[in-house]
Amino acid sequence: MGKIKHIGVLTSGGDAPGMNAAIRAVVRTGIYNNLKVTGIMQGYQGLIDGLFKPLKSHSVSEIIQRGGTILKTARCEEFKTEAGRKKAYDNLKKQNINGVVVIGGDGTFTGAKIFNEDYDIPFVGVPGTIDNDIFGTDRTIGYDTALNTAIQAIDKIRDTASAHNRLFFIEVMGAEAGFIAIRSGIACGAEAILIPEVKDQLKSLKKQLVEGSRRKKTSNIIIVAEGDEEGGAAEIANKVKDDFKDYSVRVTVLGHIQRGGSPSAFDRVTASRMGYAAVEALLDDQKSVMVGLKNNEIVQVPFRKAVKTHKEVNWELLELAGILSV
Ligand code: F6P
Repeated sequence: MGKIKHIGVLTSGGDAPGMNAAIRAVVRTGIYNNLKVTGIMQGYQGLIDGLFKPLKSHSVSEIIQRGGTILKTARCEEFKTEAGRKKAYDNLKKQNINGVVVIGGDGTFTGAKIFNEDYDIPFVGVPGTIDNDIFGTDRTIGYDTALNTAIQAIDKIRDTASAHNRLFFIEVMGAEAGFIAIRSGIACGAEAILIPEVKDQLKSLKKQLVEGSRRKKTSNIIIVAEGDEEGGAAEIANKVKDDFKDYSVRVTVLGHIQRGGSPSAFDRVTASRMGYAAVEALLDDQKSVMVGLKNNEIVQVPFRKAVKTHKEVNWELLELAGILSV
């Protein structure tokens, strides 16, 4: 009999559609393997405050289709301190929990990595963030759904943009990464895509808009990732509007609408596969690793690599977007 008999599961950082499907997979895989499963509420804060909740098979019934997270989530400053992590460890010991699945993004895995440097209770990660910015996995849970939510909204804006000959700046999420911006931009035939990974884009944007106007383009959709160095969509609109008096300029910030909603089929299936694989990893005595998806196969990536290495956007896709917007 292995040493893992009781596992905990938590969600941390920004919520993402599909987190519930991952929780369900963790709980059901645990039960299938005769493990006790405990939910930890509100991410690392709940670990520190002792917010534990026993989870049975029925606790996760009918949640696979729901956005958000039944375990709630938080961004926790206290877990960044030694004292906070010690409290978390003491609480896990008190509960007799011998392994934890953490579902979240970069900050979540950084916390888990540091915890596992000091303490012997293994943590295994499942990448859940709409940003898709985690190194070592092609996809993070929630990205596909967020992308589909974004393109539905952008398509609607295109209708009104072309009815009025307008220049629209649409801000999508991604404080540090342009993944949502690039794919939503291509999918909606955006005239330009501005992402944090590319610097000094204003000049080329203006040039592109001038060329578009010469070719009698009647509407323009510019996708701006929220973390662009020139500012958000509103600031960029301000910087270019005086040069394009023929268009009336409008700005839409899609915001948190991108984080909600029922997960897509892709996110549900990926979350189910990853949740299962995370429990299997704990049973195989793994620690400090994230499960990921590479070429549609489940892989394990050390937290060390996942948090330290920058995930590159697909530059070919960005180039393609430029070519197709002529
Ligand atoms: O990391 C997910 C994310 O949605 C980012 O795209 C965004 O920058 C951030 O979270 C927003 O965070 P909050 O919900 O705290 O405003």
